[in-house]
Amino acid sequence: MSNNKIDGKQIASQVTEKVQERVERLKEQGVTPGLAVVLVGNNPASQTYVNNKTKTCERLGMHSVMIELEENITEQELLKHVETLNNDKKIHGILVQLPLPKQIDEDRVIAAISPLKDVDGFHPESVGKMMIGQPTFLSCTPFGIMKLLEYSDVEIAGKHAVIIGRSNIVGKPMGQLLLQKDATVTYCHSKTKDLHTFTKQADILVVATGRAKMIDASFIKEGAVVIDVGINRDEHNKLCGDVDFASAQAVASKITPVPGGVGPMTIAMLMENTCLAAENTLI
Ligand code: GUN
Repeated sequence: MSNNKIDGKQIASQVTEKVQERVERLKEQGVTPGLAVVLVGNNPASQTYVNNKTKTCERLGMHSVMIELEENITEQELLKHVETLNNDKKIHGILVQLPLPKQIDEDRVIAAISPLKDVDGFHPESVGKMMIGQPTFLSCTPFGIMKLLEYSDVEIAGKHAVIIGRSNIVGKPMGQLLLQKDATVTYCHSKTKDLHTFTKQADILVVATGRAKMIDASFIKEGAVVIDVGINRDEHNKLCGDVDFASAQAVASKITPVPGGVGPMTIAMLMENTCLAAENTLI
């Protein structure tokens, strides 16, 4: 099938256009949405993600602060930075880029972020609220995927959604959001036996395995919608997803590319969450 590519860049720009209008309305009321991004150490991939986040913020007229900390920072020192940001009235959203160095307990840091500023949607309170269908901030990648499906007119109710991956950031919340839209959801993961049996039943297949081009056409039912969350480098050092795009595109009815699929949506939803956090201060 050709012309079945879901253009994440284009949909993300539609989403950010709406965010920009909200930013302008907030500014008229004297509030400039502010996002603080905390980067610990010098992981090159994290640096790229973080730069993209702050650049998008600035493009939309939002206030953005980047806090860069040494790799060997103690947990206590990092928690102090989080506390300062929790109390900073100009900052509406706080994002601590993961992964963190091994001397730091990620769960403790996430729990220290004020739930009112948890624009990543990782705080246990945000996760709990999402689980009971009373969302505050949704984790940006699954939230972005739901938008991609909506903008691409993908029907969800009654469909069988299969998620490969069970991370707290993507897999687990993804399944919940699809369930809330009345999909029948199956989770697969690294210990799943005979993965094909499950993936071949999927009307919607979300792949978040972290393994380059692992899923080819043989895993996919004819006409399925395929969402690729992976960002990897192939043997030629070219960006690629967890799905073998060329092979999968021939059987999928709709499919996201890498790059230009899920990635831009994650940033767009972070901007939307930050805007929402700022709007909440006016209520
Ligand atoms: N590392 C990889 N993805 C993410 C994300 O969405 N948020 C944060 N904070 N760290 C990440």
